[in-house]
Amino acid sequence: MAYSIDLSGRVAFITGASGGLGAQFALTLSRAGAAVILASRRIDKLKDLRATIEGEGGDAHAIELDVTDPDSIKSAVAHAETEVGSIDILVNNSGVSTTQRLTEVEPEDYDFIFDTNVKGAFFVAQEVGKRMMARATGSAPGSYTGGRIINIASAAGLRVLPQIGVYCMSKAAVIQMTKAMALEWGKFGVNVNAICPGYIDTEINHHHWQTDGGQKLVNMLPRKRVGQPQDLDALLVMLCSDQSHFINGAVIAADDGFGI
Ligand SMILES: NC(=O)c1ccc[n+]([C@@H]2O[C@H](COP(=O)([O-])OP(=O)(O)OC[C@H]3O[C@@H](n4cnc5c(N)ncnc54)[C@H](OP(=O)(O)O)[C@@H]3O)[C@@H](O)[C@H]2O)c1
Repeated sequence: MAYSIDLSGRVAFITGASGGLGAQFALTLSRAGAAVILASRRIDKLKDLRATIEGEGGDAHAIELDVTDPDSIKSAVAHAETEVGSIDILVNNSGVSTTQRLTEVEPEDYDFIFDTNVKGAFFVAQEVGKRMMARATGSAPGSYTGGRIINIASAAGLRVLPQIGVYCMSKAAVIQMTKAMALEWGKFGVNVNAICPGYIDTEINHHHWQTDGGQKLVNMLPRKRVGQPQDLDALLVMLCSDQSHFINGAVIAADDGFGI
């Protein structure tokens, strides 16, 4: 019999689903059977994706979320659970970057990156994690094994890269955050893991690959290629599944060997 993963009956909340990796994560989890909640600021983009997913026969919901606003996080998560049901899977994906030398970083640039990538990701995970743990305490002891939080860190959280130093610092924080959450929340049946993608062609960097600097960078990569968003599908689905119940606090590179 073929090995397969089925997420039917699961509810997945994906931040930053309006484009790039987040949109692909939502499509993939829907195709694996999950009901998906698409959350970010650009509601029109979320509605377009919702239509695409519904066109494929999936169950999708669009909810406005600004991860830099604690009230927005609380209301988006509450709204999601009322409209769709308890969240089983969080893909904590919203993220931003700037390109600057460290000497050029202004306090606003620093806050822009840390408010979204670290503080935003932390409070989204905290809000969803608290709800997952409340479900665990309502279940028979040891019987709740269903919470899955996947933090989207970066290869840049493991290896420092030029011109994006503050982004690298923020993603290193996401990696430690993942381990801290896994340590505290694992015993409640909530598994927290991080994916560290390498260079993937999305809105955040698409223009760069056409430039001389971008081409130079591609030529320095081990296999001289950037990835596509769907290159993370298998890893994501595995981490979201019941079958990953023994994986907690893992930091997994999906970078085509960039970090070796
Ligand atoms: N692409 C890569 O090569 C790569 C590599 C490693 C890691 N990553 C990480 O993967 C994640 C997705 O990146 P991407 O390449 O898909 O970038 P992207 O295309 O620019 O997408 C970023 C997403 O984050 C959302 N976002 C930004 N600020 C937000 C806020 N305040 N509140 C809610 N959502 C917010 C955006 O949605 P709205 O604008 O609609 O709010 C957007 O959907 C990021 O965490 C990034 O650091 C990417």
